Formats: sequence, C-alpha cells, structure tokens
Amino acid sequence: MSQLKQMDIVNFKLNQETYSRLYQQSINEPNTFWAEQGANFVTWFVPWQVVNDSDFSKATISWFKGAKLNVCFNCLDRHLAKKANQVAIFWEGDNAHRRQVITYQRLYERVCRFANSLKTVGVSKGDKVCIYLPMIPEAMIAMLACARIGAVHTVVFGGFSPRALRERIQNAGCKVIITADEGIRNATTIPLKKNVDAALSDITVRKVIVIKNSGTKVAMHSPRDIWYHELAYQQSEACEVQWMDAEDPLFILYTSGSTGKPKGIIHTSGGYLLYAAMTFRYVFDYQAQDIFWCTADMGWITGHSYGVYGPLANGATLVMYEGLIAGASPYLVWEIVDRYQVSIFYTAPTAIRTLMASGDAPLANSKRDSLRILGTVGEPINPEAWRWYHQKVGKGKCWIVDTWWQTETGGIMIAPLPGPGKEQQKPGAACQPFLGIKPLIVDENGKAVVKETQGFLTIAQSWPGQARGIYANPARFDQSYFSQYKGLYFTGDGAFQDKDGDYWITGRVDDVINVAGHRLGTAEIESALVRHPLVAEAAVIGVPHPVKGESVFAFVTLISSNPWQDSLIPELQQEVIVAIGKLAKPDKIVYAPKLPKTRSGKIMRRLLRCIAADELDKLGDISTLAEPEVIEQLKAALAAEKNKLE
Ligand code: WTA
Repeated sequence: MSQLKQMDIVNFKLNQETYSRLYQQSINEPNTFWAEQGANFVTWFVPWQVVNDSDFSKATISWFKGAKLNVCFNCLDRHLAKKANQVAIFWEGDNAHRRQVITYQRLYERVCRFANSLKTVGVSKGDKVCIYLPMIPEAMIAMLACARIGAVHTVVFGGFSPRALRERIQNAGCKVIITADEGIRNATTIPLKKNVDAALSDITVRKVIVIKNSGTKVAMHSPRDIWYHELAYQQSEACEVQWMDAEDPLFILYTSGSTGKPKGIIHTSGGYLLYAAMTFRYVFDYQAQDIFWCTADMGWITGHSYGVYGPLANGATLVMYEGLIAGASPYLVWEIVDRYQVSIFYTAPTAIRTLMASGDAPLANSKRDSLRILGTVGEPINPEAWRWYHQKVGKGKCWIVDTWWQTETGGIMIAPLPGPGKEQQKPGAACQPFLGIKPLIVDENGKAVVKETQGFLTIAQSWPGQARGIYANPARFDQSYFSQYKGLYFTGDGAFQDKDGDYWITGRVDDVINVAGHRLGTAEIESALVRHPLVAEAAVIGVPHPVKGESVFAFVTLISSNPWQDSLIPELQQEVIVAIGKLAKPDKIVYAPKLPKTRSGKIMRRLLRCIAADELDKLGDISTLAEPEVIEQLKAALAAEKNKLE
C-alpha cells in the first residue's frame, strides 16, 4: 500500500519534511498522487476511468474522466452523520442586530428548499443561473442549491453596474437571476433589484427570484419577478442530488483579461472540488476545532473556493460577514474575531493596509488570542503591512500565509506552508509551490531563468483545479494561456526565485491592474472612456497607491478641435461607473495631446507609467516610439496639471 493511502488526513500535518517527500511524488508521479488525493478528499458516486487527460498543447484540461459526484453532497450530506449540529456558518449582519447561526443540518435543509425552488421555476441540469446577491447566507445557499441540481452558477459581484451585469447574463445565457431587494454594506444600501431591472431592460430571462433583505419596497414585474419567500415556503426541505460527471461545469466566473471583454472562466466539478478542499486543508493547516473567516465577497474566486467550497468540503465552521471589512469599523473586525473565536483569518492586503491606517487602538480593544493562522490573497503584500499583520494583529505568534493564485487556478498555487520547518518567514514572499504544482519562471523566449532573475511565471504541469475554458470562446482560452510558451500555462504575472528557491510574485506583466484586490482590465476601462463623445483615445495604467495597491490613472486624447475642460473629468469617471462599476473609477484623468505609440500603433504603457510616476530617467529605450515629441507634450500636460493643483 502506498504511503498516501495510509495517511489519515484528519491528523496529518503537512510539515516541511512531509511536504518535501510528497512534493517529489506529486511532480514525478502526478497521476498516482492525484488519484490518492482524489480518494482522500472527495466522495465519489462512481469512480473515474482516467485520472488526467490534459494537454497544454491543445488547451484541453481534463481530470477524473468518467467519475460521478455531486459537489453539494460533498459539502453537506456526507457530514450530516457526524456534524449535523455543528455550526456551518456564523453570519454577522452589517447591522449587529442581524445575526444567524446555521448548523450543517439547517444549511442542508435550506439548500434543499432553495434547490426545490429552482426546480419549480424550471431550472435543471446544465442551466445557467446568475447570482447577484449581497453577502447574506442565501448567497452561499443559492450556490450550493445550483450545485445540488447540476445548474451552473455565475456569481456577479454586487459592485458591478447594470451594464456589466447584463454583459455577463448575456454571455453566459442565464435563464434565471437570483437577487435581493437591496444589499447593505457598511450602512449604505446597494440597489440590487433596480440594477437587475436596468440590466434586463432589453433582454429577456425566464425568472428573477428576489430575496427580501433590506425590506425596502422594490418594483416587481409580473410574471418575471418572484419573491423567494413566496416561492420557497411550499417547498420540501429534502432534495435528491443530481450526480454529475467530474467534468461537468460547476460554475462560470467572469474575470478581466488584458484585452476585450471579461472572460467567463469555467470550473468543473471533480477537480475543482478536490483542489479547493485539499488546499484549504493544508495551506491553512485546518484542524477540526478551527473557526475560519474568509472576508472575500462571493463574487470573487476567493469567495467561491475559500468562502464556500473548500471549507464546507472539509466540514469546517465559517464566519461570514455582510459588510466589507475595509469599510467597516476597525473595532468591529477584531470584535468579530473575538466573538466567534476565529482561528484562521484570510483577507486581502488592501484590507490590512486600511486597518493598519486606523492605528493600534482597535487592536488594544480586542484579545485576538484565538488567532493561529493569518492569510492574505489578491495582490502582493508590502513588507510594512506584512509586519503589522504579523506583529500587531497576530502578536508575533501566527503564521502568515501569503497565498498566490488566480481565478483560473481554482485554488492556492504558491504559499508558505504553516508550521515549523523553516527558520523564519519572509515578508512578501509567496514561497513554495503547493503539492502537484510545478512553477517555471521563463524569459521572453520561454527559456527557464536562473534563480534571482525576474521572469514570467508559468506552470509546467496541469493540476485538477485548473480552469477548463473560457465560456463560449475556446480559442481565447488557448490564446490567453497556452499560446505564449509552448507546453506551459502562462499566468500573466512576473516572479523570481530567491537563492533559497522561494518564489516572490512581482505583479502583473500584462495589461491587467489590481485595484484594492480587484482585478481590472485596462482595455475595459479604456473602452468605457472612449464611449464619451469627445474622447478619441484613452490609455489606462495602474499607479502605486498606499492603500489600494494600485489606482486607476487614465490619459485621454480628444477628438480634434475640442478643447480640454476639467469638467470632463466627472463625466468621464461616470462613463466608467456606468460601464463597469465604482470599483474601476479612475482616480486621475489627464488630458494628453497625443499618446506614445510604437510605429505599429501600439500604445507604450511602459512610458506612460514612467511619466505618471515622474520617473523620466527610467524611460529606457524609446527608439521604437513613432513620434518622440509626444513625451515632451505629455510632460508639459502633467506639469500644467500639477500647477493647477498648487
Ligand atoms: C494577483 C485572486 C501577489 C496576481 C485569487 C494574480 C497576487 C491575480 C497574490 C489574480 C499574491 C493574487 N501575491 N499577487 N499573494 N494573489 N495576486 O483572478 O497578479 O482575482 O494574477 O484571483 O492577483 O487575481 P484573481
């Protein structure tokens, strides 16, 4: 019998020594390794025929072909024998009078009731369901209900505008939308139902299911719209699961790329669940008594993998908070940690920097003795924020797991393993690849670089959590990830390995920017700006921001003969809010007489970044610039801008 089959995953600790041994096996004999892990973490209805049938050269990814399972069954039903009365979710409302404690038994019943409600409105296996909800338990319940009956959910973050919502509903072909009257976030309301109405102004869907949340009166359009409570009260709290093929899609989640519209990333059932469950178990060193709080919204991949599927597959107890912690009272954040005795806390660097900016008084007001592991995700963490997190929040006693991954990777890819084995943690380093993950840093020709050299981060071997495609656009999947370097998955990030072999992520190397942990495509913001009738061209870059990591900086040129006026700035910002949402609003918009372009017409964003940062000495090679005088013009435009401010 192999070493892994004997492993009792409940008591097993992945320390440096076991990691090294297992890592070797996972890379050298991946099929044996993943077959064993598949058996350890997932309950299958029918076993698989082929463990791995992936081929990067054809952009095809396939794991556990032939197997059948149900993701919801794995997250709920299989725990009921032992954990029916264990808390699954401690839900904390934005307003502290609204709290819920939901056991596994109760969650199961509510999910079944929701699943039956979906069936009643005609949702069946393979149908696409859009979820546009605030962070209320129903967000998780709706996702699990879809999984139970084999419907494919596509969750859209409540901060996206009606137009962005419509684009996603149309692209995925959603038949049913699940929303709420309003979201409540840090004492402000978000008009979700109104946004849905605006999104559906010229498209038809079968049903809009509305959850009563704030209680505000909203327009209901019969027969399309239906209140969830009216639909649900007559439904049973038992619902058979739909057994799914391992490769049947579980969800589509939209994310930004360097070009064009957002991409609908497809994740399937078997491999995704295994990878989410296993990374949750090992990266956070999850143990039975832990209380886990992931602060990410369900609208992002972190909310999917570590707010729902990974923890529930392990039978964990979760904390879910309705507000945005970066906008909440800093006192409240640590109060929640104490109230529920949170032992593992997972958030984004931008939230850490916001909390840090409010000083240490909120920390002095709380104990935080329950904390054991502190995680970060979404963007590089600066050493100062890392140290504050480690020394102040965790009182120097907690392990920091800086987790690098992406919507497309399904789960955590590179992270320092918690626990002893390494002398000291490195602030800002993502460190080691997870089991089965084979990173390779390459130069522009796809040649591996040596340690301590920066290059492009690629992954050389498939893993079960990998995205299976871009919805309705297989060619774009190939072109975005597999066409740059033969036989490698291209991440879009830069990285280097230090002399010890630990990985450091340096940020995106493509035209994607990361604002407050939100991934935004510069191309999407640019196309929003050029919708303004006076704008000829726009170029967007990310510039360093002390709290948000990056902020949106836009250069615009006007259609000839139109003079620039500062009153255009709010109008242009509004274009972006309408097209995408407030999260993408440019903080700065500067008029440019012309944009720097290569002779082939490509905008040289590298130069714009130097100009915006006032680092003209770093312009480097500008010999490919079509019109060198553009630099001087831009400098003058920025100087005029500065003068205006002074
Ligand atoms: C960035 C979020 C540095 C990276 C899970 C990646 C990070 C993009 C880290 C994916 C980290 C994520 N350190 N950068 N620990 N984690 N990123 O798809 O640029 O929203 O490509 O997934 O965020 O963002 P996404």
